[in-house]
Amino acid sequence: MIRVRQAVAGDLEELLRIARLSATAAQWPEEQYQALFSESSYQSRLCLVVEQDTRTCGFLIGRAVAEEWEIENIAILPEARRRGLGSRLLNEFLARTENDAGASIFLEVRESNQAARQLYEKWGFSEAGRRKNYYQGPQEDGLILKISFPGRSRI
Ligand SMILES: CC(C)(COP(=O)(O)OP(=O)(O)OC[C@H]1O[C@@H](n2cnc3c(N)ncnc32)[C@H](O)[C@@H]1OP(=O)(O)O)[C@@H](O)C(=O)NCCC(=O)NCCS
Repeated sequence: MIRVRQAVAGDLEELLRIARLSATAAQWPEEQYQALFSESSYQSRLCLVVEQDTRTCGFLIGRAVAEEWEIENIAILPEARRRGLGSRLLNEFLARTENDAGASIFLEVRESNQAARQLYEKWGFSEAGRRKNYYQGPQEDGLILKISFPGRSRI
C-alpha cells in the first residue's frame, strides 16, 4: 500500500539516507533537514514522505515564497524509482498547496536531469527561464520550471 503523509522529526534519518543515495537531488547539510522540523518552518514549509508498505521510499520539500510555492527537493530511493512514487508525492503537494491558494509553483532543475524534467513536464510544469551555469560540479545551466493556476487567489 502506498501512502503520502507529512514528514515528522522521526523521519530525519530516512530523509538523509534517501538524499545521500540521490546524487542529482539538492544536497543539503543535516542541519537544514533538522530545521524543517523547527517551529519557525511550520508556516512556510511542507515536507511530505511517501511510504510503500510502511517503508519510507521518498520525500518532497516545498516552501512558500511570497505568492508562490517552490519545490526545493524531491528524491525517491533508487530501487523504488519508476513506480509512480514521485508522481504520488507531486500530486499530493499540488493538492495541498491548492488549499493555500498559491498562484503558481516553481522549481529549478539541472538541464541534464531528464528523469526529473520528464516527471515535472508530465504533471504540467513548463520551462519559464534558464539560469546560466547555475549548478557546479559539474557546471551546468539550471532550468526554471513553473506551473501556474490563473484562477487562484494569492497566498
Ligand atoms: C526524479 C524522481 C524523483 C522521479 O521519481 P519516480 O518515482 O521515479 O517518478 P515516477 O515513477 O512517478 O515517474 C513519473 C514520470 O516521470 C518520468 N520519468 C521518471 N523517471 C524517468 C527516467 N529515469 N527517465 C525518463 N523519464 C522518467 C516519466 O515520464 C514517468 O512516467 P512513466 O513512468 O509513465 O513514463 C527520481 O528519479 C529521483 O529521485 N531522482 C533523483 C533525485 C532528483 O534528481 N531529484 C530532482 C531534483 S530537481
